[in-house]
Amino acid sequence: MSLAGPKSQTLQKRAQAVLPLGVNSNFRYWGDGITPYVDKAKGAYLWDVDGRRFIDYRMAFGPIILGHAYDEVDAKVAEEIKNGVLFAMTGELEVQVAEMITEMAPAVEMVRFACSGTEATMHAIRVARAFTGRDIILKFEGNYHGMHDHALWSTYAPVEAYGNRRSPIPVPASSGIPASMRELVITLPFNDFEGFERVICSYGEQIAAVITEPCQDNCGAIEPQPGFLELIRKRTEEYGIVFILDEVKTGFRIANGGAQEYYRIKPDLATYAKALGNGYPIAAFGGKCEIMSIIGHGVAQGGTYTNNKPGVAAAYATLKLLKEKPILESIQKRGQRLMDGLKDIFEDNGIPVVMSGHPAMFSFALGVDKVTCQRDWAKSDHEAYIRLVEMAMERGVMADHDAREPWFLCYQHSDNDIDETLNVFADLVKKTKK
Ligand SMILES: Cc1ncc(COP(=O)(O)O)c(C=O)c1O
Repeated sequence: MSLAGPKSQTLQKRAQAVLPLGVNSNFRYWGDGITPYVDKAKGAYLWDVDGRRFIDYRMAFGPIILGHAYDEVDAKVAEEIKNGVLFAMTGELEVQVAEMITEMAPAVEMVRFACSGTEATMHAIRVARAFTGRDIILKFEGNYHGMHDHALWSTYAPVEAYGNRRSPIPVPASSGIPASMRELVITLPFNDFEGFERVICSYGEQIAAVITEPCQDNCGAIEPQPGFLELIRKRTEEYGIVFILDEVKTGFRIANGGAQEYYRIKPDLATYAKALGNGYPIAAFGGKCEIMSIIGHGVAQGGTYTNNKPGVAAAYATLKLLKEKPILESIQKRGQRLMDGLKDIFEDNGIPVVMSGHPAMFSFALGVDKVTCQRDWAKSDHEAYIRLVEMAMERGVMADHDAREPWFLCYQHSDNDIDETLNVFADLVKKTKK
């Protein structure tokens, strides 16, 4: 059976007549005739339009932290939307959610809501520029901060285009980004202590913000080396630069307090989306009162849908559950078992592997022994990774086709799901080795 069954293939052809590539986000296109189309999902499982069931490790690229169609979240949304979904006015529930976020996230004193991670990082960057009166943004190669022009640089270009690591070239990830915006962005390899020191020393006083994912969860979950986030914190403080931690993937997933709690790091601003609403459209950015308070005083922020009731209600129910039950601990335990099991399978078969990331959102790179930045990661064996993932799909296990995208776990992945996944991989890895 192909990655896409006959019904997916038919739907793809129909979709391609009305949607570019037949999808509503380029990341969902795997190729002609091989892109699966979805019917439904529940808990840890997803069914495609051909009726095949998969153990889902994509989790919609991270938002699904509790499980698909999670009853308690859906019930809260259903209850709330009976009384309207949008008012262009502020209500109590969103104040409660803002209070919950500030309680859970160590560095967040005030927040504003948005509808997507893209919006959250765009607003955070604007606030940082307004606060500092500076224009330049420093970001790291391989980090993805959403679709706006300010940070869609050096995300997933072939690394050869990035030039020498001592003088990296920012590469736009799309046509249509004005070339003049290159003047406003500096890129560096992640974990490059020396490069970071050099850039800060030369340009520190012109930089508005350093924005980073805490762990490169859009590039094989490359972890920060000990001291790297701390170095960013220290130098940004010294130079009056706003440190933006993009927690769109890590927030409410790797700890209740996100990467701030997990890595014990306090940025000036942080951005959230994904797990905040278990899949409903809600995002947020927030941080120090001193910085957030400039919003509304000459600094624009808003949006018709920013406090949409389904999103706010879902965030309320999701955060309440995270606070009341050891949900993330349970995900972490199962994720660790999966990570350990996969590592053993590769090693037992003599395949070099680097496991990385957090058990709730991890990745593995094959055929390499060390990965500290996207330039290293690019040397790993993606072909072998894709082959394995494609074969696993035929056996009912779905990870993303793109090796940069981590494996995501949710609360409803069971021990049986982990066992089944490990059995499939043990078998496949043995077979591919022959
Ligand atoms: C770290 C990070 N920031 C921002 C975004 C953009 O979020 P959205 O897709 O909700 O616009 C993403 C999306 O994957 C992300 O992973």
